[in-house]
Amino acid sequence: MARTQVVIVGGGPSGLLLGQLLFKAGIEAVVLERKTREYVLGRIRAGVLERGLVGLMGEAGVDTRMKAEGFVHDGTQLAYDGDMFRVDFTAHTDATVMVYGQTEVTRDLYDARAATGGDTRFEVDNVVIHDADTDAPFVTFDQNGTAQRIDCDYIAGCDGFHGISRKTIPAFVRREYEKVYPFGWLGILSETPPVNHELIYANSDRGFALCSMRNAQLSRYYIQCDVDDHVGNWSDDAFWDELRRRIPAAAAETLVTGPSIEKSIAPLRSFVTEPMRWGRLFLCGDAAHIVPPTGAKGLNTAASDVHYLNQGLRQFYGDGDSRGLDTYSEKALARVWKTERFSWWFSNLMHHYPSQSDFDKKMQLAELAFLRDSPEAQAAMALNYVGLPY
Ligand code: FAD
Ligand code: DHB
Repeated sequence: MARTQVVIVGGGPSGLLLGQLLFKAGIEAVVLERKTREYVLGRIRAGVLERGLVGLMGEAGVDTRMKAEGFVHDGTQLAYDGDMFRVDFTAHTDATVMVYGQTEVTRDLYDARAATGGDTRFEVDNVVIHDADTDAPFVTFDQNGTAQRIDCDYIAGCDGFHGISRKTIPAFVRREYEKVYPFGWLGILSETPPVNHELIYANSDRGFALCSMRNAQLSRYYIQCDVDDHVGNWSDDAFWDELRRRIPAAAAETLVTGPSIEKSIAPLRSFVTEPMRWGRLFLCGDAAHIVPPTGAKGLNTAASDVHYLNQGLRQFYGDGDSRGLDTYSEKALARVWKTERFSWWFSNLMHHYPSQSDFDKKMQLAELAFLRDSPEAQAAMALNYVGLPY
């Protein structure tokens, strides 16, 4: 029978970042991941890192490549009704964001974990968390057809929205809040230069579009699509044509197109479960909450949870003080709800709703004009975009 201090369920960005931060503090952890490393690295997801996550990458000792290859952005463009304006982050805050893909964050964390001899079990099945509400929790799972058991002090549930950690908390303890949006995002990755050096978020009558990037030769674009649309309905040409119709004419004219190297549809959802702690089980990241992607908060909010949990565990193992762990759920949720609000607000502002009335449309345009003309409104947006303090 094996024993460790912390079992981390899920080897996505939350689990890996927590694992590296704990390693730095001399706290032992085992990471259990259902898929292979290659599978996890093949998922194209977030692209914009807040200052908080950039700082945590440094704290975890994995920021060398990010600093060399990431791109610092100090503003973003918002387009609507043939107009485009800039929200300048440094004019309103003391921070910037970093364009560096989630895939790269995850790769750096896996490399660091391997280099430091961290125990990561891939392709594990049937993970079950036992006795999390007692002083002797343990986790069982199957690996290569063999049943395994690890006893531990604490469990970090970092296994995403479809994981088992959240469901381990009894239904009568959990309170869930959800909003499902009536559209999705169709995204492509292409080996073409980005259309603009800053991201463009576009509100158009045909629906939302986003021009983003990973580096000087790798672009990421999204268009709003029907919630039940399929990737097979979209040839690359159809995607590019639709994107051109939704972004400002000057950008459409200079857009460089090419074959997509990845194409996928993501539904949009807001979701929060409370509390984020049950006994010795702590939920982190998508296991506890989902935001619609507008504003790039999913990965960043996962990182703030990891920060609070890391602080709590360090305090406990450092001087036996459990106050950080006792207040984890409260602290994490306070920030989660603010981020939920921002992502919901920005999604409502930028998307075309199937049921939208002419009045609703006028409200969106008025709010965009207010944002364009008001330094105070831009300051509120910039503060949220660069990331609220931990
Ligand atoms: P995940 O990344 O979901 O990692 C959880 C890990 O746990 C996975 O590796 C999974 O295989 C593993 N796991 C699951 N169940 C088990 C189990 N039972 N046992 C063991 N392991 C298990 N955010 C943005 O900011 N911008 C974006 O553009 C963006 N696009 C997205 C597109 C999609 C399709 C999705 C699903 C999310 C997107 N997000 C985006 C959100 C962002 O990627 C997530 O917030 C982030 O990945 C959360 O990290 P996590 O580690 O908490 O969860
Ligand atoms: C990206 C995704 C987002 O949701 C966002 O707001 C900005 C960038 C991206 O994948 O690059």
